[in-house]
Amino acid sequence: MKSSFIDYILRNRIPVTIFVVAAAFVITYFASRAERDGVGYTPDQPINFSHRLHAGDMQIDCQYCHVSVEKSRHAMVPAVETCMNCHKVARTDRPEIIKLTDYYNKDKPIPWKRVHKVPDYAYFNHSVHVTKGIQCESCHGDVKRMEKIGQVNSFTMRNCLSCHRNAHERLPDVEGIQNGPEYCYACHR
Ligand code: HEC
Ligand code: HEC
Ligand code: HEC
Ligand code: HEC
Ligand code: HEC
Repeated sequence: MKSSFIDYILRNRIPVTIFVVAAAFVITYFASRAERDGVGYTPDQPINFSHRLHAGDMQIDCQYCHVSVEKSRHAMVPAVETCMNCHKVARTDRPEIIKLTDYYNKDKPIPWKRVHKVPDYAYFNHSVHVTKGIQCESCHGDVKRMEKIGQVNSFTMRNCLSCHRNAHERLPDVEGIQNGPEYCYACHR
């Protein structure tokens, strides 16, 4: 009985090892792919800020906070002052607002964690997209319903190009939209 059990282990050790190695490869592959795509990345933020509450329920315009998105390359995350326009009076007794006020009083920027990022060697520009009438949601998903911001779309070169080649199909609601550039220099300068 005992020896047949050992026999069983010996006979099966090789397939088990292969399985473990294969699984490790698969997991590493998907983990590194996820890191590169960024899809699903939804970090905890220093203050529990809700887009669903502010942009959804309260319908504050995206550009009230992301002021430069139509004018420049970057959308920018708002300064504490923007929050304090309201939170000097709104919900001042809540723990998260006390934290917020503390940053403000100490004149310290809030260390928000960056969610979306293309590598430095690639060039992306918000204003060229936004001024053509492309909605934030086309790239960032349904932010108005997100309690916590996470990345829902991949920003790999393949995905940029797939929209640039088929802008009509990808953006059926945007009137008179032209295809985006495919030449390398547009995004690698
Ligand atoms: C009241 C201010 C406010 C409003 C209104 C607002 N945002 Fe934000 N947004 C923030 C803050 C603060 C952050 C950084 C913290 C976070 O990620 O939750 C942020 C982060 C983001 C990010 C992630 C940035 C990154 O690091 O990649 C996106 C995308 C975004 N907002 C899109 C939108 C869109 C789209 C709307 C409108 C539907 C909107 N926001 C409305 C304040 C605001
Ligand atoms: C236009 C006014 C306005 C602006 C700007 C604004 N808020 Fe608010 N915020 C509110 C109001 C009003 C509530 C309470 C909503 C409710 O509970 O129904 C609230 C709720 C919150 C809460 C939840 C508090 C709790 O625990 O009940 C947090 C956290 C918060 N805001 C953070 C922020 C941050 C961070 C910013 C800046 C990026 C910001 N707010 C900008 C009006 C604003
Ligand atoms: C065509 C796709 C696209 C559209 C449309 C778009 N974004 Fe973005 N957004 C991106 C990409 C790509 C990044 C990462 C940019 C980088 O790393 O330089 C990003 C990053 C951000 C960030 C992080 C800070 C920054 O500027 O890099 C914020 C905030 C943001 N977007 C908000 C918005 C808002 C608000 C709108 C609508 C007014 C919007 N975005 C429309 C693709 C888009
Ligand atoms: C949802 C569709 C969509 C996505 C996703 C998208 N783009 Fe675009 N992009 C466009 C369209 C449409 C245009 C052309 C607008 C026009 O000129 O009418 C454009 C134009 C551009 C331009 C040209 C700006 C100029 O100077 O004329 C650059 C650069 C660019 N995109 C970079 C990127 C990068 C980098 C990404 C990926 C991170 C990306 N885009 C993702 C739709 C998209
Ligand atoms: C619409 C924008 C856009 C255009 C046009 C574009 N790229 Fe890219 N490219 C990107 C972005 C964004 C990345 C970074 C994300 C990624 O790795 O996919 C990238 C990454 C790359 C990489 C690194 C890939 C890797 O696996 O690390 C190379 C090499 C590259 N591009 C070459 C080119 C060449 C050559 C062309 C012209 C034929 C070109 N790109 C045109 C947006 C673009």
